[in-house]
Amino acid sequence: MTSHVNWEALREAASEAMRKAYVPYSKFPVGAAALVDDGRIVSGCNIENASYGVTLCAECSMTSELIMGGGGRLVAFVCVDGDGATLMPCGRCRQLLFEHSAEGMLLQTVSGIRTIDEVLPDAFGPRQLDEYNAK
Ligand code: THU
Repeated sequence: MTSHVNWEALREAASEAMRKAYVPYSKFPVGAAALVDDGRIVSGCNIENASYGVTLCAECSMTSELIMGGGGRLVAFVCVDGDGATLMPCGRCRQLLFEHSAEGMLLQTVSGIRTIDEVLPDAFGPRQLDEYNAK
């Protein structure tokens, strides 16, 4: 599975996105990129705001590209900081990724390749809503 993922291409897409980051406040650019199950690569950068809490993480703009491009399931993901070093997605963004994840989605992390279930164990997701409403 891991061998089918071109991690170098994903890292390049994430770094390219990172260079577009709008970060006048934190000065901490982030780029995110993911392989979608139809083969395309989506990416995003963080977009800050003078009202700090309104800031969009790189994963948010990446998810917008995913949905605007027709949707799909995320197969593999990586996130980089301003040095191009691997960055862990924040907790909120793990939830965002989980929503759109393919079964067994892989993340390149600071501790190696992990699955979405490893970085967000026992996740809350669409299934809980479906099960409740099916009763
Ligand atoms: N940031 C992201 O874009 N993604 C993450 O997963 C971690 C944090 C951004 C938000 C903010 O613009 C900057 O990093 C500092 O927190």
